[in-house]
Amino acid sequence: MDLALKVLATDVALDIGTANCRLATAQRGILFNEPTVVAIDTNSGDVVEVGFGALDSVGRTSRHVVVFRPFAQGTTVDFDVTARLISGLFDRAGISKMSRARVVMSVPSLATAIERRALRQAAIQAGAREVSLVEAPIAAAIGLGMPVQDPVGSAVTILGAGASEAALISLGGIVTGSGRRHGGNDLDAAIASLLRQRHGVVVAPGIIEVLKWNLASALGHTHGSSEVVSARMVDSGDPVEVEVGADLVNLALTDVLNSTIKMVQDCLSDAPPDLSQDVSAGGLTLVGGHARLSDFAELIATGTGIEVNVADDADLVIIQGLQLCLAEMSSLHALLRNVDR
Ligand SMILES: Nc1ncnc2c1ncn2[C@@H]1O[C@H](COP(=O)(O)OP(=O)(O)OP(=O)(O)O)[C@@H](O)[C@H]1O
Ligand SMILES: [Mg+2]
Repeated sequence: MDLALKVLATDVALDIGTANCRLATAQRGILFNEPTVVAIDTNSGDVVEVGFGALDSVGRTSRHVVVFRPFAQGTTVDFDVTARLISGLFDRAGISKMSRARVVMSVPSLATAIERRALRQAAIQAGAREVSLVEAPIAAAIGLGMPVQDPVGSAVTILGAGASEAALISLGGIVTGSGRRHGGNDLDAAIASLLRQRHGVVVAPGIIEVLKWNLASALGHTHGSSEVVSARMVDSGDPVEVEVGADLVNLALTDVLNSTIKMVQDCLSDAPPDLSQDVSAGGLTLVGGHARLSDFAELIATGTGIEVNVADDADLVIIQGLQLCLAEMSSLHALLRNVDR
């Protein structure tokens, strides 16, 4: 990494999610978008790899190297490992500890005060000089180019791997919001558990996720499709091939999807009447990777009676919003410096 870049890149946007984390700078855009996984040498405490590299290191490196996923349900569950992950992300992006980065980070609106403090402290431990937390729905609305500062209602729903949140935003703040600590990962867990019950088999998590991508429909459409996957019998451990139908996959989605519709309804029903009207006119936008589930927008539209669409690059909207915050922040700092003279 060019030394000049290392010194310059001091403003960093971070969106760390349950499944994936993203890092961006105002000047260089998105530099990292990989799984929220960190491989640590437990002897030295050093970060060996982050992201895809950490996943690849499973079983291929010394037995002192352990792979951690420090996030669940949208927030950190392991402060120390999160700090190491962030420090590994800085390294990968060529951001030196010496640059004492100013960091803008998203946090789910449902995160507790303790979770927020842990996230902030983890970034500081990783070398950040200053950390600003932005609630994820605000970052998403900025990323979508919604008029967040105006006295109109903008509705956004984030559907991630471990957290889901719906928010109605006006005058720069969240007017009504609701959240659930579940997301795409919970669909995978429900599919796995149904496969175990119905077929007596265990299927690797990566295969389950692909079954979801290829077969699931939030509206229960099956198109008669199925896929044959490799599995292991629960009782004997023998390898087998099983045919998994879209009907089984769809059945597994029911609880999480019902709860998600209820979440969006709760948020909208709490809205003041004039903002409700804005939402009826402008519709609702879904962001987050889990929003790509087939027919999810149609399901939420049916459950709420308003128009729903899925954002382009749905999983990148939050980091794009944070990147815009960085750009604003540096122009604001330039402005303040000018006033100083
Ligand atoms: N085409 C698709 N169909 C269904 N689900 C999908 C698709 N593409 C991605 N997903 C799901 O999206 C989720 C990842 O989304 P995202 O990267 O937004 O989550 P995250 O930011 O890591 O999580 P969170 O913000 O909840 O902590 C995974 O559960 C993944 O299986
Ligand atoms: Mg996310």
